[in-house]
Amino acid sequence: MPFDPLLLAHARHVVVFTGAGVSAESGIATFRDKLTGLWERFDPAQLASAEGFAADQALVWGWYEMRRAGIAQANPNPAHHAIASLAARVPKLTLVTQNVDDLHERAGSQDVLHLHGRLDAFRCYRCARPVEALPPLADGALEGRRIEPPRCAHCAGPLRPGVVWFGEQLPEPVLSQACEAAEHCDLLLSVGTSGLVQPAASIPRLALAAGATVLHINPQPQVSGHRREFAIAGKAGEVLPGLMTRGFE
Ligand code: OAD
Repeated sequence: MPFDPLLLAHARHVVVFTGAGVSAESGIATFRDKLTGLWERFDPAQLASAEGFAADQALVWGWYEMRRAGIAQANPNPAHHAIASLAARVPKLTLVTQNVDDLHERAGSQDVLHLHGRLDAFRCYRCARPVEALPPLADGALEGRRIEPPRCAHCAGPLRPGVVWFGEQLPEPVLSQACEAAEHCDLLLSVGTSGLVQPAASIPRLALAAGATVLHINPQPQVSGHRREFAIAGKAGEVLPGLMTRGFE
């Protein structure tokens, strides 16, 4: 049975759970897509772990600066805009993202729960103090460039990006809020995620177990066959605006 778009209009609390695929049409690489995914070309153990940073700070900092520069040049796409406008059409919407970019915010979404942190929220690797004034972006072609991280004004330790690396805990208040929303929503839209990274990947399952309807929007959706679980195969920037039209007009 296909998903009924009127479920959107009738929902009281919608959770939108996004992954890298929601930013793909903005030109931001996903992680696991064949050929284009970041983890096809780069080693996560080297670039996205505390051990990797300790081993080669300049390599890791340069890689995150490259990604930050790419995000700064990108713009929100129709999927980000559709999610922001959905928030104005339903009584309650909780936006939970695994993404470390700020494209949801730039599309107008507020109170975004960033499960994996944000690229532009730097802190000291040694004393963990947050850094308010961001260092300016390096210019020019950044791919493959080693850049020494700036130093903390308090302890002179190296700065690190405010993202969750492999082996690190997710920010507890953010994870709790996301789980709480999943357990109390009536509709969860899972957009552009492979659902392979825990604990984030369990959020749609929490919603399903608590009685919500779950809709996956993905060119290659994975569904369990549960009677309240649906999928629309397609790009988020095409499917979401279409759903908004069919659900509300
Ligand atoms: P993945 O790269 O694992 O998955 C991206 C998903 O997006 C895939 O299922 C694609 O089919 C789908 N996709 C691609 N283009 C799309 C489009 N235009 N519209 C909709 N979907 C599209 O990315 P995530 O699931 O976000 O962790 O990965 C989860 C985590 O793994 C990330 O947050 C990151 C990574 O390691 C950290 O940084 C801690």
